[in-house]
Amino acid sequence: MSIAEKFVSMEYGPAPEDSKEAAAWLGRHGHRLQHFFGGEWQAPAAGEYFDTVDPSNGEKLASIAQGSAADVDAAVKAARAASSGWRGLTPHSRARYLYAIARLVQKHSRLLAVLETMDNGKPIRESRDIDIPLVARHFYHHAGWAQLLDQEFPEYIPCGVVGQIIPWNFPLLMLAWKIAPALATGNTVVLKPAEFTPLTALAFAGICQEAGLPAGVVNIVTGDGSTGEALVKHPDVDKIAFTGSTEVGRAIRAATATSHKRLSLELGGKSPFIVFEDADLDSTVEGLVDGIWFNQGQVCCAGSRLLMQESIAEALIAKVQDRMSTLRIGAPLDKAIDIGAIVAQVQLDRIRKLVDQGVADGATCWQPQVALPSRGFYYPPTLLSNVHPTSIVAQQEIFGPVLAAMTFRTPAEAVELANNTVYGLAACVWSESINVALHVAAQLKAGVVWVNCTNLFDASCGFGGYRESGYGREGGREGLLEYMEPAWFKSAPMLPAEKSAPPEAELEENSSTPGTDIPAMDRTVKLYIGGKQARPDSGYSMEVHAADGRLLGEAPLGNRKDIRNAVEAARKAASWAKATAHNRAQVLYYSAENLSQRRDEIAHRLAAVVGEKQAVTEVDLSIERIFSYAAWADKFDGAVHNPPFRNVAIAMNEAIGTIGIVSPREAPLLGFLSLVMPALAMGNTVIAVPSEAYPLITGDLYQLFDTSDLPGGALNIVTGYTSQLLKTLAEHDDVDAIWCFGDEASAAAAKAMSVGNLKQVWTNEGRAIDWFNPKLAEGRWFLEHATQVKNIWVPYGE
Ligand code: NAI
Repeated sequence: MSIAEKFVSMEYGPAPEDSKEAAAWLGRHGHRLQHFFGGEWQAPAAGEYFDTVDPSNGEKLASIAQGSAADVDAAVKAARAASSGWRGLTPHSRARYLYAIARLVQKHSRLLAVLETMDNGKPIRESRDIDIPLVARHFYHHAGWAQLLDQEFPEYIPCGVVGQIIPWNFPLLMLAWKIAPALATGNTVVLKPAEFTPLTALAFAGICQEAGLPAGVVNIVTGDGSTGEALVKHPDVDKIAFTGSTEVGRAIRAATATSHKRLSLELGGKSPFIVFEDADLDSTVEGLVDGIWFNQGQVCCAGSRLLMQESIAEALIAKVQDRMSTLRIGAPLDKAIDIGAIVAQVQLDRIRKLVDQGVADGATCWQPQVALPSRGFYYPPTLLSNVHPTSIVAQQEIFGPVLAAMTFRTPAEAVELANNTVYGLAACVWSESINVALHVAAQLKAGVVWVNCTNLFDASCGFGGYRESGYGREGGREGLLEYMEPAWFKSAPMLPAEKSAPPEAELEENSSTPGTDIPAMDRTVKLYIGGKQARPDSGYSMEVHAADGRLLGEAPLGNRKDIRNAVEAARKAASWAKATAHNRAQVLYYSAENLSQRRDEIAHRLAAVVGEKQAVTEVDLSIERIFSYAAWADKFDGAVHNPPFRNVAIAMNEAIGTIGIVSPREAPLLGFLSLVMPALAMGNTVIAVPSEAYPLITGDLYQLFDTSDLPGGALNIVTGYTSQLLKTLAEHDDVDAIWCFGDEASAAAAKAMSVGNLKQVWTNEGRAIDWFNPKLAEGRWFLEHATQVKNIWVPYGE
């Protein structure tokens, strides 16, 4: 075709990025790549390798070492050996290494971008302009945190050796999100890249060598899921950070339950892309291109559910189809390509199967008339309309270039549809009315909300999910906390094992306690549900004895039904979360005032169990503790970030929702309030289980809260055998988090039983907490667990 003809047709010519440098890099490694640990390349112990292929043509790129348990063990040993040296460096020295890595990432950015595109299939435009610059930005930002660590987190220490497992959709970016904060906070790491995309992680190992990073600080073991499993199960790993499918996230939660490993999970999503009738539709369509066709839709936060206000649905669909017809699919190394290859045949099959199921469920499928390359794994941009909200394509993560469209009428309906998913990773809101957009953003259950923009990320802004999208944040201050512990915590002594509850069959009806001459009963309390005293469903009760064996009274034996009622009451008490922080503070102050008025009477009763001295101290410190959280209620604010775009990101500390709290035995009143108060102060609703040592405290507490204007249902108290109640709470899908502060076995049980809906679990790991020391037992550590950060991105400028 002559130039003159080209001017007429305006056809694109090929514009391939040169892959010579990447080919030379593969050549230098003999197309056979080893693990990297202890500062050196290491052959796999079992001598096994697997292939990594270029998804754009199905050709093999290199052989990759398959990591066995022995390789993982050797890498963990290297990380452990390097740990004390690395954490012993000054913050400035660590900052210098991170800075050097950032510089080298920039220096090698073209090689990294090309390798990433060859291994993953993503368009070079994206790896060159988005992935790799964000990788460098992450290391720069965290070089800064490393420098400031001692000033900003003086009371914290690193977790130790961290195992990190990452997926294939943003291979080097996910590595940066994991390694940068871990190193900045003084941890050493063993990272396992995804089996489809190990190359850039290995190139990064070379960068670590070039930066002179001490041996063993960063270790890379390649392999498949079995290698990841070996890392998760390794006894000498202190924390696991995982990004990937919800299914594997669940398996990791279960596998780590009986260990003391910290865990952060960044899992799947089914993010809504909400368009109101006053949105700028042309911008919206461009947003949608970035929302769902970025990286072939293989993005955990992809805007895969298009929710359109009914009045503009038809016009929007027409514009979307027009735009889809202009998207260019083809060889990802071509600089003018919009949609590259799907990562692997198995993923392509998964996409096809889900789309077929969506169509079988009644959706209408539309795809532009585009020719797909004859080799490699490609899938055209796809629009499914008339999708029913319960259809599989509206509920399950497809992880492909497939958009499922639905309509709504009112903002309230939009919120309901948007939240109608088990996930909660991200959301987009498009409206020219800032009032509508922010009002809706606040109601969305998602860790990130983009207003009139899509898929923006920055190292300064935490990223992570609500609900089954996982827990923990990556990026920002909150991301650093995932890699540190309060210094005192790890050395706190373990609590003795607690006596477990008798099996249900042995329970006695409270009307007849056989075989004893029961002395006159001092006290019988009820459950406290929905702001009212309630009889237990079972009709059973448990005897409560003083330290000297004297019978003090009876407390109801709550069961599954009582917990269900309490959860329902907590869910109905949404007004508490919506109350202003000032309002919540007032209620808390009022309850402290009421406790202070009844100080002697409550201490007197408590004394029978814990002795007079402790009882008085507990009540006095409880008054102080409530005051502290009343003070915090309107001060634990979020932040406003200034990412390097024309955007502000408003980081809001939001309540988690409904928290089930199992209280400690050591301090029946103070321990209970030390956990319940921060949860309430931040706007959560609570189902609390008092310790079995003194459940009669419930009687004092409901009187206290009844007279303090706490709305009914904000706090519910269910007494009984803690192990049984913990199980019901942990298994309940409408409970968002579990805090369990008992012995080691109950911490493990809380984690294992929460696998179902992946609720957030916070425990003392069976360690004794000195509830009498406000430095350890109150403040930010508690408030951070009572909240989750939502980042709302708002653009500015014309
Ligand atoms: P996956 O969750 O199996 O893989 C992610 C990583 O976990 C890989 O490094 C893998 O080797 C490792 N892994 C697998 N099984 C493991 C185990 N039992 N213990 C420890 N590590 C293990 O994801 P997969 O199979 O590659 O993709 C399946 C689906 O998952 C996708 O279609 C997509 O829906 C979702 N996904 C979500 C991602 C996200 O960013 N949220 C990323 C990748 C996949």
